[in-house]
Formats: sequence, structure tokens, C-alpha cells
Amino acid sequence: MKSSYIYILPTFIFLFFMFQPFSYCGATENSECFECHSDEALERVESEGMKAGIFVNEYKFKNSVHNINSVACIDCHADITELNYDLEVPHSSNLAPVDCGACHEDEAEAYENSVHKKAGGKGISIPCYACHDYHYVRPLEGYTVTERENEFCLKCHDPNKFHDWLPQKETHFDHVECAVCHAPDAPRHIHLRFYDLVENAYLESDEILAALNTDHENFLKLLDTNKNLIIEVDEFEKMVFLLRQSNIRVTFRGELLSEMEPVIHHINRGEAKRECETCHLPTSPFFEAVTIVLDNEDGRISHYEVERRVLETYYVNHFYVIGGTRVRLLDRIGLVLLLGGVSVVLVHLSVRVVTAPLRRRKKEKKDEFTA
Ligand code: HEC
Ligand code: HEC
Ligand code: HEC
Ligand code: HEC
Ligand code: HEC
Ligand code: HEC
Ligand code: HEC
Repeated sequence: MKSSYIYILPTFIFLFFMFQPFSYCGATENSECFECHSDEALERVESEGMKAGIFVNEYKFKNSVHNINSVACIDCHADITELNYDLEVPHSSNLAPVDCGACHEDEAEAYENSVHKKAGGKGISIPCYACHDYHYVRPLEGYTVTERENEFCLKCHDPNKFHDWLPQKETHFDHVECAVCHAPDAPRHIHLRFYDLVENAYLESDEILAALNTDHENFLKLLDTNKNLIIEVDEFEKMVFLLRQSNIRVTFRGELLSEMEPVIHHINRGEAKRECETCHLPTSPFFEAVTIVLDNEDGRISHYEVERRVLETYYVNHFYVIGGTRVRLLDRIGLVLLLGGVSVVLVHLSVRVVTAPLRRRKKEKKDEFTA
């Protein structure tokens, strides 16, 4: 009889630990790491005697694309297999560098062929996270051109130092993602964002859907009456009309973006596009894909293809925001290119450049008028 107690006690202990919250189960849970690493004061002493913070912001990490996709601390810090609390630091304090390419193989391969990979020479190169960050990576697709560039390229480059051959540099940098010219292997598309003329701000997807009295699932069905999965000009105009009925004076801001594909990492010296006609011709292959976008709750976005001719409509042309009224102009510049060759363009452009302040003033007047 008595001997069976010998087994019952360990069984109890075993069961006790089995049904504890997961954080007791081993080294696999983020919460265990956060017990120390959510302490803002936590530091370590580097080899040169410098102190470096080892704080990880729990809130920002929770909202990162990695956490949302269940990538845990130890999926990246893969050489931590368990924590040993007998030691002052419960894991090696000389961890191996994280290998982003372990999961992002295609990007890592594409990155091999890049000025940045080779930048440092002598085996040192710019790591993935110099552009992307590591603990707080967010889904990129929903960002505007300026948000993308501020987060990446502008950390290290000042594009105003170059590009003197490009008129209206700022307009280009505001509407064309750096990678569109600098990673010419990557396909690209025009992205139309909903802009509220009265509020002077981009419209949130929720507002658009609420005003149309629909949801993500039924958005396309509502507009695409002929069911060809493309929003044509008349369907597009119907959408604008419906929004206006809900008192939203909508207009569209165009941006030229690269597709999210690994070849976007092929950035190399001397390979960028500069020929005006690649973009400023009515037939430009750069403008074949035109989409409007809505954000989903998870930070991802849905693209809806629209007919290219939408770029010529009143709503895309006629926005009085900075950078407005230009898509038609792309074609106009292109037309001049076609008819008269480059010299005429130069005359045309210098006239436009000279008259730019005047036009801007006119535009501001109109802004006041419409506001
Ligand atoms: C008991 C507290 C504690 C826990 C729990 C803890 N750490 Fe640490 N961690 C530290 C301390 C202290 C350092 C600084 C070590 C040093 O001085 O070099 C550190 C350093 C680090 C470093 C930087 C060191 C390097 O070599 O790059 C990483 C990465 C790290 N921890 C990840 C983790 C992960 C992931 C977990 C969870 C699996 C975790 N830690 C759990 C205390 C802790
Ligand atoms: C997407 C991969 C990834 C995930 C997930 C991740 N880390 Fe890191 N972590 C890195 C990279 C990259 C570095 C930079 C140094 C290196 O390469 O090891 C780093 C550095 C650190 C450092 C050193 C201090 C610093 O900020 O540079 C600590 C501490 C750390 N991580 C803890 C954590 C903890 C705790 C978690 C989970 C909450 C976590 N990491 C999740 C990639 C990741
Ligand atoms: C010089 C800056 C830079 C470096 C370094 C860099 N990237 Fe990127 N990465 C970008 C840009 C730009 C995009 C496209 C986002 C955009 O359009 O704004 C991108 C997109 C991505 C995407 C999403 C697109 C896709 O292919 O699904 C992933 C994943 C990615 N990078 C991973 C990596 C990895 C892994 C490394 C290292 C091997 C790396 N990146 C190095 C700039 C960089
Ligand atoms: C353990 C696997 C793993 C590791 C290691 C890892 N990632 Fe990721 N990463 C993912 C998953 C899963 C996603 C979400 C699905 C997707 O977009 O591919 C993701 C998404 C991303 C995205 C967003 C792509 C988009 O569509 O917006 C970027 C950028 C990115 N990772 C960069 C990095 C960088 C930089 C590192 C190294 C510091 C890294 N990842 C390490 C698994 C990983
Ligand atoms: C972490 C800093 C850093 C970031 C972020 C960065 N670059 Fe660079 N880039 C460099 C360095 C350093 C070189 C120089 C390489 C060399 O001289 O070998 C370089 C070189 C270049 C070159 C070749 C011309 C030259 O000056 O050598 C181009 C083009 C370029 N980068 C574009 C970009 C674009 C576009 C982005 C954003 C997607 C970007 N870079 C992000 C650091 C960075
Ligand atoms: C309209 C196309 C276009 C856009 C947009 C553009 N660039 Fe460039 N850029 C070029 C061309 C063409 C060159 C000339 C050198 C070359 O071919 O690499 C150049 C040169 C450069 C250089 C110097 C290269 C050298 O060899 O010295 C850097 C750095 C650079 N660009 C970064 C950027 C950044 C950062 C952005 C985004 C803010 C950007 N560029 C936007 C076309 C463009
Ligand atoms: C990669 C595509 C691309 C290239 C290459 C390009 N542009 Fe542009 N350009 C654009 C876009 C996009 C806009 C802004 C459109 C908008 O406002 O919606 C723009 C705007 C302009 C404007 C401003 C129009 C205004 O009303 O302010 C001028 C002028 C212009 N481009 C001239 C040129 C010239 C000249 C070249 C060749 C040296 C050139 N562009 C090369 C895409 C490009």
C-alpha cells in the first residue's frame, strides 16, 4: 500500500507543472523573455566598455508583423533553446547574429546582387535590418511613398544631392518610390489613395466602407456590376458619386510604387531609370497596373484593379492637393515627347518650372476657395 504514495507525489508534481500557464513550461515563451527584457533600465556592457540597452518594447513588438504571424523571440534568436536560471544571465551572452534569410530565402538571395550587400567590402555588409528594423517590422504595403522612403533610404542618403537632371525633384520623390527607378527589375503599379478634399486628409478604409454602406467582402461586388473584377471608369464614377452622397468629397492621389517582390532588393550603381519617356508617355508600361487600395484590420491591404483610363478622369486630375493635377500631365509631357522630341520638352518644362510659383499660388487660391 505505502509504496504507491511514492509514485503519487511525483505524479502530482508533474501534473501541477503540466497545467501551469505556459510560461513555466520551458524557454519557448515570449513572456519569459519579457520578464527581463521589458525593463527599460536593463543594459549590458559591450566589449569596449560601452553600455547598450537591451530593452524590447512589448507593445511595439506585439504589433509587429512577426508577432502577428507567430514568430517568437527564439525563432529569431534561434540559439537560445532553454533558460537556465542558475546563471546570472539565463542564456549565453554571446548569441549568434540573427539570420533573417533563414525564413526569407528569396529576399536574401535577391539581396546578394545589390550594392548594399557588397557595400562594406571585406565580408561586412549592410544587414537587412538597417532598412527594415528587427523587433518592430510592420507590414509595408499600406504605406505611402514618403513613409516608405523616410523609413528606409533617407536614413542614409540625401537624394537632393543627386538627381540634378530631374526637374521638380520633390514632386518625384513624393510620388515615385526610390525603388521604382533604382530597382528597375521589380514590376510596379500606380496606387490611387482616397483623399478627402474637405478634411484635407487621406480617408481611412473604415470611413469609405461605412459611407458606401458595405464591407471588405462586398466592396468589389457593389461596384463591379459587370463582374469582370476590374473597376471601370463608369463603375469608378459611381463610387465617387455614392461617396459624395454621403458628403465625402473624395479625390485620388496617385503614387508610383514597386511591387512587393524580392527583386526590389536589386539596387545597383548605374542601373537606375532616368529616361523621362519610361513614365511620361501615354503608353508607358509603368502605368499598366492601376489599383485602389483598402486597409484590412491586420495591417495588410487589398488591391482592386481599376481601368487605366481612370487616370484621365476629373477625380484623379482635379485634386488641388500638392502634387495634384499631374497624371494627365504625365501624358501631356509624353505627348510633347512624341511630337517634338526632347528640345520641345525642355522648352515646355522650363516654362512650367518658371511658372510653377504662379501655378502654385493659383492652386492655393483655389484651395481657399474650395475649402
Ligand atoms: C533573467 C533575466 C533574463 C531573461 C529571462 C532573458 N534574458 Fe536576455 N539578457 C539578459 C541580460 C542580463 C542580458 C545582457 C547580457 C550581457 O551582459 O551581455 C541579456 C541579453 C540578451 C540578448 C543580447 C545578447 C547578445 O548576445 O546579443 C539577447 C538577444 C537576449 N538577451 C534575448 C533573450 C531572449 C530571446 C530571451 C527569452 C527566451 C531572454 N533573453 C531571456 C537577461 C535575461
Ligand atoms: C524577426 C527576428 C527577431 C525577433 C522575432 C526577435 N528578435 Fe531580438 N534581435 C533581432 C536582431 C536582428 C537583433 C540585432 C542583433 C542580432 O543580429 O542579433 C536583435 C537584438 C536583440 C537584443 C539586443 C538588444 C538590441 O535591441 O539590439 C535583445 C535583448 C533581443 N533582441 C531580445 C529579443 C526578445 C526578448 C524578443 C521577443 C520578444 C526578440 N528579441 C525577438 C531579431 C529578432
Ligand atoms: C537597402 C534597404 C533594404 C535592405 C538592406 C533590405 N531590404 Fe527588404 N525591402 C526593401 C524595400 C525598399 C522593400 C519594398 C518595400 C517598399 O516597397 O517600400 C523591401 C521588401 C522586403 C520584404 C517584403 C517584400 C517581399 O519580398 O515579400 C521582405 C520580406 C524583405 N524586404 C526582407 C529583407 C531581407 C530578409 C533582407 C536581408 C537579406 C532585406 N530585406 C534587406 C529594402 C531593403
Ligand atoms: C522564423 C522565421 C523568420 C525570421 C527569422 C524572420 N522573419 Fe520576417 N517574416 C516572417 C513571417 C512568417 C512573416 C509574415 C509573412 C510574410 O509577410 O512573409 C515575416 C514578414 C516580414 C516582413 C514584412 C513583409 C511584408 O509583406 O510587409 C519583413 C520586412 C520581414 N519579415 C523582415 C525580416 C527581417 C529584417 C528579419 C531579420 C531581422 C526577419 N524578417 C526574420 C518570418 C521570419
Ligand atoms: C544603412 C544605410 C543605407 C540605407 C538604409 C540605404 N543605403 Fe543605399 N547605400 C549605402 C551605402 C553605404 C552605399 C555605398 C556603397 C558603396 O559605395 O560601395 C549605398 C549605395 C547606394 C547606391 C549606389 C550609388 C552609390 O552612392 O554608391 C544607390 C543607388 C543606393 N544606395 C540607393 C538606396 C536606396 C534606393 C535605398 C532605400 C531602398 C537605400 N539606398 C538605403 C547605405 C544605405
Ligand atoms: C526618376 C527616377 C529616380 C528616382 C525617383 C530616384 N532616383 Fe536616385 N538616381 C536616379 C538615376 C538615374 C541616378 C544616376 C545614377 C544611377 O544610375 O545610379 C540616381 C542617383 C542616385 C544616387 C547616387 C548614385 C551614384 O552613383 O552616385 C543615390 C544615392 C540615389 N540616386 C538615391 C535615391 C533615393 C534615396 C531616392 C528616393 C528618395 C531616389 N534616388 C529616387 C534615378 C532616380
Ligand atoms: C519612374 C517614372 C518617372 C520618370 C523616369 C520621370 N518621371 Fe516625371 N513624374 C513622375 C510622376 C509619378 C510624377 C507625379 C505625378 C503626379 O503628380 O501624380 C511626375 C511629375 C513630373 C513633373 C511635375 C509636373 C507638375 O505639374 O508639377 C515634371 C515636370 C516631370 N515629372 C518631368 C520629368 C522629366 C523631364 C523626366 C526625365 C528627366 C521625368 N519626369 C522622369 C514619374 C516619372
